Amino acid sequence: ETPADNAAQHAKDDAEWKVGAYFSLSGEETAFGVDSKEAIDLAIDEINKAGGVKGKPIHVLYEDNKSKPEEATNKVLQLIDRDHVLALLGEVASSRSRAGGIVANKKKVPMITPSSTNPDVTKVGPFVFRACFTDDVQGQMGAQFIVNTLGKKKVGLFFASDDLYSSGLAKEFREEVKRLGGEIVMEKSFLKKETNFTTYINELKSANPEMIYAPIYYTSMAPVARQAKAAGVPGSMFVGSDGWDANELLRDAAEELDGAYFTNHYAPDVPWPNSQAFVKKYKDRYNRTPSSIAAQAYDAARLLADAMGRAKEMTPDDIRAAIQDTKGFQGATGVISIDAERNANKPVVIVRIKDKQFTYYATVNDKAAK
Ligand code: PHE
Repeated sequence: ETPADNAAQHAKDDAEWKVGAYFSLSGEETAFGVDSKEAIDLAIDEINKAGGVKGKPIHVLYEDNKSKPEEATNKVLQLIDRDHVLALLGEVASSRSRAGGIVANKKKVPMITPSSTNPDVTKVGPFVFRACFTDDVQGQMGAQFIVNTLGKKKVGLFFASDDLYSSGLAKEFREEVKRLGGEIVMEKSFLKKETNFTTYINELKSANPEMIYAPIYYTSMAPVARQAKAAGVPGSMFVGSDGWDANELLRDAAEELDGAYFTNHYAPDVPWPNSQAFVKKYKDRYNRTPSSIAAQAYDAARLLADAMGRAKEMTPDDIRAAIQDTKGFQGATGVISIDAERNANKPVVIVRIKDKQFTYYATVNDKAAK
């Protein structure tokens, strides 16, 4: 009996369809995990209230990977071998989605990452999907925004060398800046665990860049912004990526980053009807503005439920095939179609930090947003 056969057998007998979810509910990037969980709960409650899928409610089993890739591996193993889940949702950080995805793919249980953008994640194999764009697109959009839209040709680059997501984006960005005729006047990298960035910032400053691209998580960006300000580098010189998206960045460094831009999947005030409907529901339930992570997790959960509804039989294999067939799914973060490489083609949004808020600035790479 394979794990997938087991899951299918258990599913027949159980009163609910079991879906596994693994996220960083504690540790370094807790905000990513908590936002994801809240939004998945919202989506699943709506689906179950409307009758569930094929006559049964969905039950989500959550596991906390403590923000560690090794724990992502363990938790996915547990969810499949011990709990016999039919499908998986997770993770946010690409490093953890890749770790979890390797297990899911080997065990032949389909997984959807709502928000991991590194290209390697879905290359793991046929059972691993994502509901978001990839970093080859995001890195290019970041470069085009700086060089073409802002007209800044001398660029600095600052990233985490030991993080899959950050180093992957740095690579895409570097190539695109060159292609566009810009120049990386200085690049500096740090290790994820570092907290003192002043030396790097001073070195970057001495190269006189017009803009600095920092494709890093909010956990590093908040101290970078504060230390940069102290070193005389205004936060508005930085352009970031989706890893900036957490309310914690606003809490810790909104003033320092006033005027800064970053690429993202969504903004709370993005003028798309599906997004606004989601923002309203989330605010009604949680009394706060949903992050991009939340919007993406909401979409991934609904997309999975939609695929389960279309699956021939409730088996991991048939659910996998139905996810692969997803076309024109109406999400809070845009319209989602899954391509042959198991990625989603979606618009990239430019967000600007203004008056302590993430505000919508523009849509680039405009692939059917509304
Ligand atoms: N794209 C990031 C990654 O792959 C995760 C992320 C998505 C973070 C959206 C914030 C907002 O690691």
